Amino acid sequence: MKTHKERIAGRFGSAVADYDAHSPIQRVAARRLAERVKHLALPAHPRVLEIGCGTGHLTRELLPALGGTWIVSDIAMTMTAECRRLIGPAVHYIVMDGERPAVAAGGFDLILASLATQWFLDLPAALAALAPLLAPDGQIALATLGAGTFAEWRVAHEKAGVNAATPAYPDAPALRRAFPAGLTVEVAEEDLIEPLDDPLEFLRGLRFIGADTPAPGARPLTVGQLRQVLRAFSAAGHAGMSYHLLYAIALRSSNTSQPRMTR
Ligand SMILES: C[S@@+](CC[C@H](N)C(=O)[O-])C[C@H]1O[C@@H](n2cnc3c(N)ncnc32)[C@H](O)[C@@H]1O
Repeated sequence: MKTHKERIAGRFGSAVADYDAHSPIQRVAARRLAERVKHLALPAHPRVLEIGCGTGHLTRELLPALGGTWIVSDIAMTMTAECRRLIGPAVHYIVMDGERPAVAAGGFDLILASLATQWFLDLPAALAALAPLLAPDGQIALATLGAGTFAEWRVAHEKAGVNAATPAYPDAPALRRAFPAGLTVEVAEEDLIEPLDDPLEFLRGLRFIGADTPAPGARPLTVGQLRQVLRAFSAAGHAGMSYHLLYAIALRSSNTSQPRMTR
């Protein structure tokens, strides 16, 4: 029997061919995170660790702008292989669970993760394991899903009297609290709506990109329950699905109290 992590890696790993064509929100999140990172104070040749690279939306946005030495990782081997195919051998690719980082402590000026950490089983423990990898003045920059994500979908489940299989996501204060002491954290928020003609499009979209592993312990709906949810969603007249994006920048510093954003 597969573990939850193996299921996540297997689903994303099998979605490589369709991922880029069906990930508009992921593309926007990577672009927005990249804009924030470009304004951080970083060394001329930063040492960068990327977690959950997928097909490389964020890598493609930032590698040319930042340069430096990169380790690009994902829990799904085929994702790192696709990233290598698209981006080339200028960076080092590894298969790694970002919750159990197997790289040298103190060696990174920047740790990046765009829409990957919402798949972690224990975010505070993972961030506590990642923080020691930062060099002094190193920064963690991540984009993740916030509490308002899929709000319409959750309401449709409530109306149908069933539990949603989507995980609970943190609000901005909870994300800030998830970082360990010793890091100074800023969190920004953005709300996006993915337009949908039909709620089934939402499920198909998640399936296309491999983001359809249910939360641990969630029971799959029966066909009848799913129909009720879809009916409740359509009856509410929603034109799309909400994504509540959180962007966190966390600075490891012994002598300043604010992340070093230059604007
Ligand atoms: C929604 S995709 C985002 C990919 C890419 N960063 C982007 O912006 O398109 C999530 C990625 O995180 C990876 N992932 C999920 N759990 C992970 C973990 N524990 N450690 C490392 N990568 C993980 C998945 O395999 C997948 O490639």
